[in-house]
Amino acid sequence: MKVTVGVSGGIAAYKAAELVRALQQQALDVHVVMTASAQKFITPLTFAALTGHRVITGLWDSDGEVPNANSAIEHISEAQSTKALAIAPATADLIARLAHGMADDFLTTMALATPAPLVLAPAMNVQMWEHAATKANIATLRERGARIVAPESGHLACGMLGDGRLAKIETIVAGVLDALHRRHDLASETVLITAGGTREALDPVRYLGNRSSGKMGYALAEAAQARGARVILVSAPTQLKPPAGCEYIPVTSAEEMRQAVLERLLEATLVIKAAAVADYRPRMQAEQKIKRTGPLTIELEPTEDIVAEVVRARKPGTLVIGFAAETERQMENARSKLERKGVDAIVLNDVARPEIGFDSDRNAVTFLTSSTSIDLPEMQKRGLADRILDEALMLRRPRQIVAEMDSSSAYTTR
Ligand code: PMT
Repeated sequence: MKVTVGVSGGIAAYKAAELVRALQQQALDVHVVMTASAQKFITPLTFAALTGHRVITGLWDSDGEVPNANSAIEHISEAQSTKALAIAPATADLIARLAHGMADDFLTTMALATPAPLVLAPAMNVQMWEHAATKANIATLRERGARIVAPESGHLACGMLGDGRLAKIETIVAGVLDALHRRHDLASETVLITAGGTREALDPVRYLGNRSSGKMGYALAEAAQARGARVILVSAPTQLKPPAGCEYIPVTSAEEMRQAVLERLLEATLVIKAAAVADYRPRMQAEQKIKRTGPLTIELEPTEDIVAEVVRARKPGTLVIGFAAETERQMENARSKLERKGVDAIVLNDVARPEIGFDSDRNAVTFLTSSTSIDLPEMQKRGLADRILDEALMLRRPRQIVAEMDSSSAYTTR
């Protein structure tokens, strides 16, 4: 399996050679990309000799004038073919450029172009590491799903003492292996995900709807797909593009969603119901547009509870995770849903908070089971989706077994 080590220009750049060797000992095919400043600390020849591959040092040809013939394609093929991009050391400057989506050299261009997990091992002076700008950039990258292998404390090259030393090589290797492992930890799963807000027609023009944008469900679909799962996405109308590689089934109403879900249910090993499904629909749908003639009373009827039906109809071993969108008495209402619907877990989010939940890029949830309650703090929905999938996987493996695995394994799987 191919992985790429990115090297940026810090005094710890020489340690990247040790990282390359350590990754090769894990039977990984290591390729190296260097920034211009990295080459002031260590030569490309070192890495070419270690890896047996040409070291990529830039987007331009040797005299820096024109893009070399294959560079326009090379960074895309390099980005698409690698299974993980590990940048060690990651300097403050490189971290800032990554956080702001810059693409002014091969490494940052590749980081934007790759779907592979990003592992960052920062190394810098303690003041730079503690600086608010660096902290903010790190937080941004972490929320987007990057794995940060935090620097260690100790004597720094500049003579100061404190955080900023490159993490131990074995710790960085563990981070890369965990990222690779995560890439395939859903390979045996078929994940059926619902997303978006259903629309219950009043007449040919009007409908009852809600504020769901679909972002949470689509983030789950994207994350599951990136981790090797087969994903079936049943989606109410959204403004979002379905994640590449997912089987996409568009629906509009709660009844259409119900039918689509039940039709595919027996293929699923994991069902995640992130959609905002209408609880009520108009008992009668007008055939023509309702005319404006003073006060109007509309009688509503309850829709079928899809998730409860899914629990009853699923094949043995299929996990079902529901969501709970609550505005008050959060835990009480979520626990009641957990019991009433018979799901394996409920993902509770407080939709009274304007900055998370409906239509936001961010969310904060509590992953609730009959015996546990795990708070997953506010972050981008894409990073949170991975965390929710981690907890879903834990449902398959009792915690004590995982604890034993973590203590004995060369790297943690969490
Ligand atoms: O889409 P976004 O803008 O990203 O917003 C995300 C979200 C807030 C919509 C999402 O995080 C969320 O909370 N989704 C569930 C919304 C909802 O309908 O919650 P609920 O508490 O009303 O329903 C509980 C569970 O029952 C949900 O899993 C829901 O999908 C399911 N349900 C509800 C009604 C129904 N008739 N059938 C169902 O299956």
